[in-house]
Amino acid sequence: MIPEASIPVLQGTRVLLRHWTDADLAPFAAMNADAEVMQHFPATLSRAESDQLASRVRAHFELYGFGVWVLEIPGELSFAGCVGLQQVSFDAHFTPAVEIAWRLVRPAWGKHYATEAAECALRYAFEVKQFPEVVSFTVPANLRSQAVMQRLRMHNKAEDNFAHPKLPAGHALSAHVLYRLRHEEWIAK
Ligand SMILES: CC(C)(COP(=O)(O)OP(=O)(O)OC[C@H]1O[C@@H](n2cnc3c(N)ncnc32)[C@H](O)[C@@H]1OP(=O)(O)O)[C@@H](O)C(=O)NCCC(=O)NCCS
Repeated sequence: MIPEASIPVLQGTRVLLRHWTDADLAPFAAMNADAEVMQHFPATLSRAESDQLASRVRAHFELYGFGVWVLEIPGELSFAGCVGLQQVSFDAHFTPAVEIAWRLVRPAWGKHYATEAAECALRYAFEVKQFPEVVSFTVPANLRSQAVMQRLRMHNKAEDNFAHPKLPAGHALSAHVLYRLRHEEWIAK
């Protein structure tokens, strides 16, 4: 188990990716109960489901030393959402893999915060952890999330797209697009 003190905090120009505290659980649950934020997920989350998700996110840090951080906008929003890295939790043609993920509260959209925070996480992934590749995936309809991927210079090939194995075949959210960014592509930027 990796102690919290050795888990990094990442700082960008306007964003801070910091450790979770129990005070984050209420705003995290409010975000997960927001139908607009959760539009491209199977359902909004109850408080209990949100707390369970937060426990899994915090456990990932203890296991791997990295994870999905809380996004803070210092001086503006103490909880603006969460952005970070995680081991993909299912088997697919591109796994094992580390994914980058983001979910922001509605007032934090449209300000480039997700992209800025994701750049901090990618810098950590490639320059500190030296991961060979980071992936990201979403449903085709989630154009805002794909726009973040494209701003990060992640790229999609049709043959990489996949049916999410945690959803039943034929589910409306089954089809996923996969974006990749390789270490050498980040270094060459
Ligand atoms: C996906 C999500 C994080 C994207 O957020 P976002 O605000 O669109 O993305 P960014 O933070 O990168 O901001 C980009 C926006 O900031 C605007 N912007 C403001 N200042 C900017 C600047 N200095 N530079 C560039 N863009 C800027 C851009 O124009 C763009 O807005 P637009 O798309 O309305 O034109 C957000 O929609 C979200 O949390 N969705 C719900 C959860 C989700 O679906 N997660 C992904 C699951 S795979």
